[in-house]
Amino acid sequence: MAQIIKFSEEAIEKAVNILKNGGVVAFPTETVYGLGANGLNPEAVIKIFEIKNRPFFDPIILHIGKKEDIIKFWSYIDKRAEKLIEKFWPGPLTIILPKTEKVPYIVTAGLDTVAIRMPSHIVAIEILKRIDFPIAAPSANIFGRLSPTEAKHVDEQIGDKIELIIDGGRCPVGIESTVIDLTTEKNIILRPGGIPKEKIEEIIGKVEIIQKIEKIYSPGQLPIHYSPKTPLKILKDFKEVKEGIKAGLLAFKEVKYPEKFVRIEILSEKGDLKEAARNFFSCLHNLDNAGLDIIYAEPVPEQELGKAIMDRLMKAETKSFQ
Ligand code: TXA
Ligand code: MG
Repeated sequence: MAQIIKFSEEAIEKAVNILKNGGVVAFPTETVYGLGANGLNPEAVIKIFEIKNRPFFDPIILHIGKKEDIIKFWSYIDKRAEKLIEKFWPGPLTIILPKTEKVPYIVTAGLDTVAIRMPSHIVAIEILKRIDFPIAAPSANIFGRLSPTEAKHVDEQIGDKIELIIDGGRCPVGIESTVIDLTTEKNIILRPGGIPKEKIEEIIGKVEIIQKIEKIYSPGQLPIHYSPKTPLKILKDFKEVKEGIKAGLLAFKEVKYPEKFVRIEILSEKGDLKEAARNFFSCLHNLDNAGLDIIYAEPVPEQELGKAIMDRLMKAETKSFQ
C-alpha cells in the first residue's frame, strides 16, 4: 500500500530517493496528479505503463524544472515555442517538438518527437530542483479512467501498486495541460487543457484544434477516455432525466430540478469556468463513488476553459446512449 505523505521536506526527500533509484512516485502538479519516473531511465518508465495499464503506443510528457533544459531534449527549438515558453511556463502547457537522442523511445512511444512541460506546482518544482533528470509523468490514474485531482483519487486507483503519494491538496487548475504540436508549420492543439486556445492565439496566431482522428496522434484523442465507472450522459434537456432510477447531476452553476436527483455536484456556483475546471474531476469522482445508476452532466459554455471541460465530458459520455 502506498504511503500518503503531506507535502513536507521529508516527503520531497523520499520522492527524490525513490526516483533516483528507478522507482515511481505520485505527486501533485497544478493540473492533475502525475505518476512520475526518471524520464531517462527506460526500466523506470516501463513501470509507469505497467501500473497504469497504459498501452505502449501512448507517449508520455517529460517534466522539467528549468527552461534551459529544453535544449537537452528537443533537437530543434522553434520561435513559436520560445514565445509560448516565455509566456506560459511554468504552467499547464505541453509543447511537442523533435526529440534528441537522449530521450528514450519508451517515453515517446517510438515517435521522433517529445512532449515537454515545466510544471508550476510547488511539489513538482521542489522535486525537480533536487534531481538532474526530467520526470516522465502521465496522469496518476488507470488508463482511460478519471484523472486524479486529489491524493485520495490516486490512492483509490493505484494505491496498491506504488510506494508513495505526496499529498499536496487539490490541484489548482484541475484539468490536464493543453498539448500543442509545433512540429509542422500549423499550430495544432491535440488536447484542449489548462491554457485556453484564445490565449495561445494571442501569442502565435491561429491555432487549430484537431477534432477528427485521422491517425491517433495523442490518445487523449481516443473517443473514450476520462470515463467514470457509472454511465454518464450529457444532459441537453431536463425532460430527458429518467424517473425511478438513482440519478446524479453534475451541474454547472445552479440546480433547476433538485428533486430529480439523489446526488448533485455543482462545478461553480458563480458560473466561473476556472473554478469549474478546478472542481471538474473531483465532482465526477464524488458522483462516480455515490452508487448511482446514471450521471447526468449539464453542458458548460464552450469558451476559454469551458472547451477543455466539454472535451472531457464528451469523452466521458457513455457511447451506447447516443
Ligand atoms: O497536465 C498534464 O499534462 C498531466 C500532468 C501530470 O503533467 N499529464 C498528463 O499526461 O495528462 P498524460 O500522459 O495523461 O497525457 C499526455 C497526452 C497524451 O494524450 C499523450 O498521448 C500526449 O499527451 N502526448 C505525449 N507525447 C506526445 C507526442 N510526442 N506526440 C503526440 N502526443 C503526445
Ligand atoms: Mg491522462
